[in-house]
Amino acid sequence: MLAAVVTVSTRAAAGVYGDDAGPAVAAVLRAAGFDVGEVVVVPDGRAGVGRAIVDACVGADLVVTNGGTGLHPRDLTPEATRDVVDRLAPGFAEAMRAASLAVTPMAMLSRGVAGVRGRTLVLNLPGSPKAAVENLQAVVGVLRHAVDQLGGGDHPRPDGGPTG
Ligand code: MTE
Repeated sequence: MLAAVVTVSTRAAAGVYGDDAGPAVAAVLRAAGFDVGEVVVVPDGRAGVGRAIVDACVGADLVVTNGGTGLHPRDLTPEATRDVVDRLAPGFAEAMRAASLAVTPMAMLSRGVAGVRGRTLVLNLPGSPKAAVENLQAVVGVLRHAVDQLGGGDHPRPDGGPTG
């Protein structure tokens, strides 16, 4: 299964500082069994982030963004994501915020969404490495099954028996 990571940060894209969150997210995904290519770093902004997500979806089963989900006027990753997905998958964002609220009340500041573009699942994470990893950990155990379902796979039966 192939995953792509998109870091949304105007300053990281400009080289003001390095991207720590993208590699941290990629490491969690690799530990979960995904192949992850080079992290793409793009500045905040609805159109550019939307294009980056569209590009990242080509050939990927999963696209994970980090950054740009807060309340700052330039935080437009959720809007960019909604622009390019066909269907929302709100359970992922609900699970991430629920788990994160147990860590910090600041979790409610993230407006991240999740959705499906074609057969690719797209997830928004917050931008700090700590927040990104905490959010991803809340859902990572379900991602392989989600991707399988998107590809037309059946639900696993609780008794492990044949499906269909
Ligand atoms: N979620 C977790 N688990 N841990 C955190 O430290 N930080 C919050 C929130 N979600 C945080 C978190 C903060 S402070 C902000 S502003 C929002 O994510 C949005 O972050 P972003 O604008 O970098 O996307």
